[in-house]
Formats: sequence, structure tokens, C-alpha cells
Amino acid sequence: MKNWKCTDTIIAPSLLAADWGKVTQEVSRSIQAGAEWIHLDVMDGNFVDNISFGPDMIAAVSESNDTYLDVHLMIARPDHFLDRFIKAGSDMITVHLEADHDISETLKRIRDAGCGAGLAINPATPLENALPYLEEIDLLLCMTVVPGFGGQSFMTEVMPKIEQASTLRDLRGLDFHIEVDGGVDIKTAAIAKKAGANILVAGSSTFKAEDMKLAVEAIRNA
Ligand code: DX5
Ligand code: ZN
Repeated sequence: MKNWKCTDTIIAPSLLAADWGKVTQEVSRSIQAGAEWIHLDVMDGNFVDNISFGPDMIAAVSESNDTYLDVHLMIARPDHFLDRFIKAGSDMITVHLEADHDISETLKRIRDAGCGAGLAINPATPLENALPYLEEIDLLLCMTVVPGFGGQSFMTEVMPKIEQASTLRDLRGLDFHIEVDGGVDIKTAAIAKKAGANILVAGSSTFKAEDMKLAVEAIRNA
């Protein structure tokens, strides 16, 4: 598998916006459109006010192709379910700072399993809260919507946080990715990239586009 650098622009269509009547074909469509990663949003109806899918879906996607699986756990107890998501074939596992778990311990378990460890922060969570963990992560996800649903509007006010994270990463000589998730389209992708994000999660603007390949290219070149 390719070793992605934090300077690479990576497009990660969110399966949440795909046609679930044909999930594996939708993943193939994403790969053919040129997307490097696929983003899988796991929601438990507790941490967020919505329910999506669990480890069995990740396993089905993992068995159907070998694209990079970027798993975003919007669940209250990521530590409890972690082993099942590892076993399902996740490549990157991102857990929320706001969830109820020993964050360092969870991140360590993810890395020990050979997966990339991601830490997500909600729009209202200051970057300061994530500072103690920056050495322990491979990806920082700065949510640009309140998590729970696709199709919401991008929150530009999150950009200063991304700029700070990017500056701090360079100052400390770290190399985690910075990912944005929520409301990313051609216009907002440019804003996020300028702020320092290199991984762009995009659901509605890719899967629901008339031509997914053109949409992925446009977001990449935004
Ligand atoms: C929101 C999810 C996002 C969402 C993005 O809770 O984490 O990944 O699917 O969807 P769009 O791109 O439609 O905002
Ligand atoms: Zn997500």
C-alpha cells in the first residue's frame, strides 16, 4: 500500500452519500473516479443523533476491493468497539476527542494494530484540547460541520484551527495529516487547502455529482 505523505492531497468520498443499494459498486465508482481513499462514517445513535453502519459494512467494503479505508468513528465508546473495526480491515481509524475513552490508550491500540491513528475534533472543540496528543496521531480531523449528517454547510470559522494545527505541526517537526470533513465541495475545498488541510472528505459533492470523476478532479485541483 502507498505510504501517503502529509503533503499529498487525498480525496476521500464519504460512503454516507453513496447509493447503499449497491455499496461495493459505489466504492468501485469512487476508485475509478480517482479518489485515493474511501471515508466510512460510523454513527451509533448516541455520540451523534444518527445511526449508520458498523464493522460488518467495513468488512464488506474491505473484501470487495483494496482501496484505503478511512474509518471515522462517531461513537461514544470507541475503545469498546475498536478491535472489531481493526479486524474488519480498517486502514485509518479516527476517534473523537469528545468521546468517552482514554484517548492515548485508544490511539496506542490503533497504532499497535498496524493502523493509522486519527483524532477528530468537533467544530466547537478548541485545538488546545488536542495538543497533548499530536505526537500520538497520524491524522487530525477538524470537523467542518457538527457531526451526524451529510449534506450540511461548511463552517469557514474552523479554518483558523487548521492554520494553527498546520503551523504547530511544522514547528514541532511532526507529520500528521490534516483532514476536513463536512460540506466540502469545489469552493470550500480551496479554502480548506489554503488553511493547510491535505485530506478532503467529500460526500454529497462527489457521489451525488453528475460526473464523479470530474467532481473528484475539481476538488483536487481547487
Ligand atoms: C458527518 C460525516 C461526514 C459527511 C460528509 O457527520 O462525518 O463524513 O458524510 O458529507 P458531506 O460531504 O455531504 O457534507
Ligand atoms: Zn466523516
